[in-house]
Formats: sequence, C-alpha cells, structure tokens
Amino acid sequence: MSYDIDITKTPPAHEPERQYYYMAKAKDFVEKKSKEIGRPMTYFVKTFGCQMNARDSEKLVGILEQIGYVEGTDEHSDFIVYNTCTVRENANNKVYGRLGYLQNYKKKNPLMKIALCGCMMQEPEVVENIKKHYKFVDIVFGTHNIFKFAEILCNNIESGSQVIDIWKDTNQIVEDLPVKRKFSFKSGVNIMFGCNNFCSYCIVPYVRGRERSREPKDIIREIEKLVADGVCEIMLLGQNVNSYGKTLDNPITFAELLREVNKIEGLKRIRFMTSHPKDLSDDLIMAIKECDKVCKHMHLPLQSGSSRVLKEMNRHYDKEKYLDEVKRLREQIPDIAITTDIIVGFPGETEEDFLETMDVVKQVRYDSAFTFIYSKRTGTRAATMENQVPDDVVKDRFDRLLKEVQTISSEKAKCYEGKVVPVLAEEMDDQKDGYVTGRMDNNSIVHFPGTEDMIGNIYNVKLDECRGFYYMGEIKEDA
Ligand code: SAH
Ligand code: SF4
Ligand code: F3S
Repeated sequence: MSYDIDITKTPPAHEPERQYYYMAKAKDFVEKKSKEIGRPMTYFVKTFGCQMNARDSEKLVGILEQIGYVEGTDEHSDFIVYNTCTVRENANNKVYGRLGYLQNYKKKNPLMKIALCGCMMQEPEVVENIKKHYKFVDIVFGTHNIFKFAEILCNNIESGSQVIDIWKDTNQIVEDLPVKRKFSFKSGVNIMFGCNNFCSYCIVPYVRGRERSREPKDIIREIEKLVADGVCEIMLLGQNVNSYGKTLDNPITFAELLREVNKIEGLKRIRFMTSHPKDLSDDLIMAIKECDKVCKHMHLPLQSGSSRVLKEMNRHYDKEKYLDEVKRLREQIPDIAITTDIIVGFPGETEEDFLETMDVVKQVRYDSAFTFIYSKRTGTRAATMENQVPDDVVKDRFDRLLKEVQTISSEKAKCYEGKVVPVLAEEMDDQKDGYVTGRMDNNSIVHFPGTEDMIGNIYNVKLDECRGFYYMGEIKEDA
C-alpha cells in the first residue's frame, strides 16, 4: 500500500493514511540518526503469550521495517518492543524481570528506545507501576491501538518523554497496515478480536475488549494476498471462532466463512483457533469434514471435567455435553486430532472434581494437551472466591494430570506409526541432508526424503517411525 504523503503538511484524519504519514515522519528521524551513527538502526521484538500476540507482533515489525529499522539479533538493539501477555501471573513476572536488564543496556546506548505493549498494558496497576518505577520506558500502548504505533512513536520523538496511550476498548478495526510475516509459507489471520465470554478465571475479556468480527470480504482479500505472496497455510484466529460473524451487519457463521476460505485457489491448508465447546454446531463439524483444505484437527479447551467446576468457571457446558461433542466430531471425522487446555486448582476444586477431569482425559485420549496451574487474576470473578486450593495439593494434581496426558499423547503418537497421512512440506531439514521437514494436520513434525521444490506442497507420507515428538517417513504418493 502506498499513499501520497507530504510530512510537512498536517496529518490526514483518516486511517490508515494517517499512520502512513507518521511512518514517513518516523522514517525521516531514523534515516537521520542512522547517518549520524554510521550504521542502520536495529529493532528487536519479543512476543509473550498466544497466537494473537504473535500476529500483532508481525504487524509491529511491519511498521518498524517501514520506518527503516532493520532486524537486530537481541536486546542490545536500538528499539526493543515487548509485546506482553497477562493470562497468568508468571507471564507478568517475566516482563518485569527483563526490564531490569534493559535499563542497563539503555544506559550504554542513549539512542535506545523501549516500547511495552500488549495485554499486560491494559491493566491500570501495571501502567501505574511503569509510570512510577520504570521511567526509562519510552512508549506504552495497549491491545486496541497497536495500529497507532508509528503515531505514538512520533509523539515520543517530538516530546522526548515517556508516552502512554492506552484505550479501554474500541470497535475500530484498521485494515491495510504493513505486516512482516515470521514464516514465508504460513500466517495467522485475525477473523475477530476480543472476547465476550467472561470465563470466571480469565483476564482476556478485560484486556482484549468486546468481541468484534472482521468483514468476510476483508478476511478473504487478506488471504488471497497472502497466497499470492507464497503462503499456503493460514490459521484463522479468534478467542472463540464459533461466535464469528454474529455482530456483523450481514451476519455469517464460522462454518460459512470456512467454506468461503476453502474456495481460495492456491491455499493448501486452513487451521483455526479456538473453538469454544459451548457452541460447537453440527454445521461446523460438517464444514470441517467437507472442506478439503481444513486440517482435521480440533483444539477444544476442556478447562475442567467437573460439571460443577465448569459452572463456576462460567463455561456454559458440562462434562456430558463436552463428551457428546467429542463423540459427534469422531462420528463424522474418525481420524480427527483433538487437543485441549486444562486448568488445575480452580478455587474450590476438590479431589472428586479433579478425578472428573482425569476421567475426561482418559475417555477422550487427547493427541496433546496444554495443562496450566490456576493463576489468580485481579479483576476476574474467580479472584474473589475464597476457597483457593493449597499449593501443594495443586502441584500434586498437576503432576498426576501431566503424567496421564503425556502417557496418552505418546501412545497416540505411536498409533500413527505405519499410517499414511497428509504432510505439508515446510522447509529443508537442517539436521539431515536430502530431507524435508513437514507437518501433519495435528501439527506433529515429520522428516522425509525430499527436495527444495517440494516445499509448500502436501504429500501422503507413510510414518515409518515415531521418535517421541516427531516422525521419520517417506512419500507414498502426491496428495
Ligand atoms: N479463548 C481461548 C483461550 C485463551 S487463554 C479459549 O477459550 O479456549 C489460553 C488458555 O489459558 C485457556 O484455555 C486456559 O486454559 C488458560 N488460562 C486462562 N486463564 C487462566 C488462569 N487464570 N489460570 C490458568 N490458566 C488460565
Ligand atoms: Fe478467556 Fe473464556 Fe474468552 Fe477463552 S473464551 S479468552 S478462556 S474468557
Ligand atoms: Fe496472553 Fe493476551 Fe493472548 S493475555 S494469552 S497474549 S490474548
């Protein structure tokens, strides 16, 4: 995208033109500084948290490169961005820990700028803390105004002082800003932002705001552009993709969107994250089954197997409904890979509740599962619940769950041995000459003999040997 920009004039009022104006302005600054120091100015973006943040970071990098910064290797670069996560307490602690180091680096490099953004910055206490104790941070912004990165940077360059710009919420979606992908062949694509579910343990709705969907035509246009640029796999991103499209002027369902995306020529694979078990429609199951490009993989976060705890968590499904969904999925798509997220130690969780979780794990037999220790998040309803589970009890349950989950997933991995499965060749194998590395629908890695020209294509690969987390295989035929 290019616009006629004159930085001596006043900034345009409309987006995204306004941001291209500020990018041009910041570029002017970066060019001058680079000349002064006789080398390019470098950036380093560190991403914490989920796929949403990873995608947001690609947008930040797109803007940084447009401004003229070049990629640095580490935190000794001239512009450091921490895109933060706050879903669990330890995510926050990591950021504070690293800020200590950054202060020292900055003392040695007066040109250095530090920006903090992302979910943690949407918490007022965090911002207060940064204002008071981390004055060396140059820029702080949140999840709703990342599109304004260049403008905020210009404000900082002009004022020479800390700029804090946090929005409480927004219904604005700014299209057509620069993006720099981390991978050439795959990309995340936001289909919606925010979350309205308010699961009682979760801070995401507070830091990502209300749910809003992108227009299907904007999504399709973005994917078509990505495909033209060499992307063969996309992951549709939303906190709860099942409620996609409900708030649009012309409502459409997620299943309908999948069918539209499936028609895009040149695209090979479609993934999506995350489905909420409260509303997994038959329509969606059929769309997954019938769309040839959609990976036969469902990430279906369980959180707890106890119907009582699920109620307290405000999840709007119970153990029976969840198990029924798994059954419906497998009836239609017998080989579908199912993965999940589980929280251990939610307030009031008893041994019996925990055993219900173990029971679901044993019944479903997940291909893999992320297990988390409950973390109390200020502002959420669960944080006000009194019956927090003692640490040693949680630790014991967590260890038992992890063991079960790992045993099952390695048994499941072993089950694939000898099977022929579709594998997307993603890159040359850096360990073994004459081999390529690819991924199965369920994201497992497969190494198999191949050449550079195979990259980006899907092959039917026989999985000869399972070696723990990956497979060695050989091509049976073109898929
Ligand atoms: N929207 C997605 C999840 C986003 S957060 C969904 O609903 O599935 C990713 C995972 O972090 C959640 O699935 C949950 O298992 C975990 N999580 C969220 N809040 C947590 C907390 N307070 N403590 C521990 N784990 C948490
Ligand atoms: Fe958090 Fe629940 Fe929303 Fe997922 S659906 S982001 S767990 S509130
Ligand atoms: Fe973390 Fe924000 Fe994602 S809190 S998990 S980065 S939505």
